[in-house]
Amino acid sequence: MTGAVVARAPAKVNVHLGVGPLRDDGFHELHTVYLAVSLFDTVTVRPGEGLSLTVSGEGTGVAGGPGQVPGDRTNLVWRAAELLAERAGVPADAALDVAKRIPVAAGLAGGSADAAAALVALDAFWGTGAAREDLLELAARLGSDVPFSLVGGVALGTGRGEQVSPVLAGGRSHWVLGISGEGLSTPAVYGELDRMRAAGRLPQVTGPAPAEPVIAALRSGSAADLGAALTNDLQSPALNLRPDLRRALRAATDAGALAALVSGSGPTVAALAVDEAGAVRLAAELAGTGVFRTVRAVSGPAPGARRVP
Ligand code: C5P
Repeated sequence: MTGAVVARAPAKVNVHLGVGPLRDDGFHELHTVYLAVSLFDTVTVRPGEGLSLTVSGEGTGVAGGPGQVPGDRTNLVWRAAELLAERAGVPADAALDVAKRIPVAAGLAGGSADAAAALVALDAFWGTGAAREDLLELAARLGSDVPFSLVGGVALGTGRGEQVSPVLAGGRSHWVLGISGEGLSTPAVYGELDRMRAAGRLPQVTGPAPAEPVIAALRSGSAADLGAALTNDLQSPALNLRPDLRRALRAATDAGALAALVSGSGPTVAALAVDEAGAVRLAAELAGTGVFRTVRAVSGPAPGARRVP
């Protein structure tokens, strides 16, 4: 096969992230509502012998630095390629290139987006014709957020987040993502949550907080209702690990955001704007504060992983 195949996949914000107790398998039971937003990573597949991988763009960083993305088999894209080739019984021959715009270790599911885009691109490139269910199953093996990166839009995530079902949203919401310089490790943030609960610094729970309030707010299409319903159980532990994020959240609300929360396990702050023009103003205001390394105005829902013509 000749020629390149290109696919892209979106970043996400968890507008609800209810975290239950630690399970025996090391994961936490979740009720989460994912919102895909208009910030995309792109994966290009070209002919090659064996697998090779190059990564460029946002946050890929200095060698050995915290934001570095591996260009070897430890990268989720590489593992996605191996899994799909094995499943389809085809040789894993492809030269992969990931162009990152989604910051790394930011709580925006950038790595999951890359894996989802790789599955879509390689499925087309190798002509494997995988069923949607097969891709979702492979995605779940790659990571808890990868099935959502395939599906996109707005979805309820249950289990460890890998079981996704679409949620009806009444309109678009407009956000400013405030991105910090240094990433946070997802397992470290979950671990901090467990410690805070065990020490009585946060209430003990028997299950994840239900997502209904945020689902109702999304359905209403009211940005104010959505702002009032935003929930993230990982916010307190993320703030404990990164106290400077309190200032970042305050900066967002001071600058006129309807509400602001830590995205996923952080450290990105997602600030909700009244409307599109409000997001542009908010982004300009937040860029001027010097609190964030980068700010990006985005909107959602955005489509899941798909081929780019
Ligand atoms: O599934 P994924 O590889 O993205 O998860 C990374 C880590 O985040 C897990 O190893 C686990 O420590 C934590 N995690 C969790 N509960 C979840 C999802 C992730 O504890 N539902």
